[in-house]
Amino acid sequence: MTPDIKPLVCGNWKMNGLNADQAKLEALEAGYKSDMQALVDLAICPPFTMVGALASAADTVGIGAQDCHSAETGAHTGDVSAAMLADAGAKMIIVGHSERRSDHGENDADVRSKTQAVIAAGLTPIVCVGETKDEREAGKAIAIVDGQLAGSLPDAVPDDLVVAYEPVWAIGTGLVPSAGDVEEMHAAMRNTLVARFGEQANGFRLLYGGSVKPGNAEELMAVANVDGALVGGASLKPDDFLGIASAYLALKA
Ligand code: PGA
Repeated sequence: MTPDIKPLVCGNWKMNGLNADQAKLEALEAGYKSDMQALVDLAICPPFTMVGALASAADTVGIGAQDCHSAETGAHTGDVSAAMLADAGAKMIIVGHSERRSDHGENDADVRSKTQAVIAAGLTPIVCVGETKDEREAGKAIAIVDGQLAGSLPDAVPDDLVVAYEPVWAIGTGLVPSAGDVEEMHAAMRNTLVARFGEQANGFRLLYGGSVKPGNAEELMAVANVDGALVGGASLKPDDFLGIASAYLALKA
């Protein structure tokens, strides 16, 4: 946690979600009571096909998307722009997720262009970074993440910028770095961002992502400079997702 930063717990549904799953939003909002709303922002990023419907139905939970094209319009068959997602009601867009980087060959320059597009559309960018297992074992995790931050962020960013540290080896594996390793990485990211963006960067939300579950959320969310979570698998089950968000009730108690 960072004093004065309201945390964000954001679900990434990945390529999961049919119309019938709109009921999950209702279940989430039913459990996201005012005491929790006061402590933590809750959001979900469904597949493109559900963004409009969920954004229309949502009241207290923010709706976002998982990717966008860097251009606003044009001849890009199959792509979706940030402006279109804003028009559909999205409030935020994840960019640079490691599955985009690995499945679609996106590099830091691509992520930077997409981040710029998200900003231009007036939405909140959630920019993902994180090292592989080999890179961590070689002692290069902080250097890799530093490089990704340098390459993936444009020179002018909004105050509501979100950066998600997601070690590639922790995504969908049940493996989680130690609280000490998360603390070290998040402190390094904050220092790097403050060195580049100045005082503004003390307000950026730095999320941790990778196998966050109700059982480990309290320990991870208590770490200094961890301002919330990006949640994959557990965000598909409203009870688990609420269980993660309710870590903040426990931390405040
Ligand atoms: P996971 O995914 O929670 O299923 O590990 C996290 C992510 O990819 O954002």
